[in-house]
Amino acid sequence: MLQVRDVRISYGRVPAVHGVSLSVAAGTIAAVVGANGAGKSTVLRAVSGLNRIDSGSIELDGKPIHDLPAHRRVPLGLSLVPEGRHLFPRLTVRRNLELGAFTRRDAREIRQSLEMVLETFPFLKDRQEQQAGTLSGGEQQMLAIGRGLMSRPRILLLDEPSWGVAPMLVARIFETILAINRTGVAVLLVEQNVQRALSIAHRATVIQTGRVVAEGSAAELLGSDLVRKAYLGL
Ligand SMILES: Nc1ncnc2c1ncn2[C@@H]1O[C@H](COP(=O)(O)OP(=O)(O)OP(=O)(O)O)[C@@H](O)[C@H]1O
Ligand SMILES: [Mg+2]
Repeated sequence: MLQVRDVRISYGRVPAVHGVSLSVAAGTIAAVVGANGAGKSTVLRAVSGLNRIDSGSIELDGKPIHDLPAHRRVPLGLSLVPEGRHLFPRLTVRRNLELGAFTRRDAREIRQSLEMVLETFPFLKDRQEQQAGTLSGGEQQMLAIGRGLMSRPRILLLDEPSWGVAPMLVARIFETILAINRTGVAVLLVEQNVQRALSIAHRATVIQTGRVVAEGSAAELLGSDLVRKAYLGL
């Protein structure tokens, strides 16, 4: 469904990603793991359209999308839940969710999505008028995922969903990602929490300083001593 082929990405003149390829099959969870600064967010932002690629290609359903601006990739089914969440802290929970539907017009369908998100995250039901910035870290993460779902994605791009989340809530975040995937939404998951990411992913790509150093089924990677020791810190 999503094919990233040999992309190179730089910030100004400083190269950050030196030819990364990865793919996400329909209905699956693909994880991208690697140390700080490896280039995980850079690749994810390129998929969503927030970073330009210098070369290579990004295809959705076999069609190149890398020249489209970010807002035109959303209606095609790509939705980014960015690292650090980037909610609007002074706006209400409800407003933050509605903003996730900014590319949609059909009020009835948007309402249905809102109901689906509130089913997924029932604690948000009573908090719709609360300012987003007053939620706990884990609650904000769930709101950010909920906002991401409001565009009705076919692929959800999640950047460090367990970041800043109390350990008690981390398991719940991962369970929710699995539940979302079971509804048919594919997931491209960037995580520092390697063990948990690989425990829910089908396939995984390990990147180190802007290059792919290992790729395979999540079970294979978890089972490989070399990969565990050298790249996963397990
Ligand atoms: N806006 C930017 N301007 C300049 N350099 C950047 C920018 N964003 C990232 N970089 C650099 O690009 C490289 C890859 O960064 P990136 O944020 O993609 O890593 P990451 O794998 O997501 O790391 P982390 O796990 O810490 O989030 C790093 O060397 C980083 O310093
Ligand atoms: Mg990152």
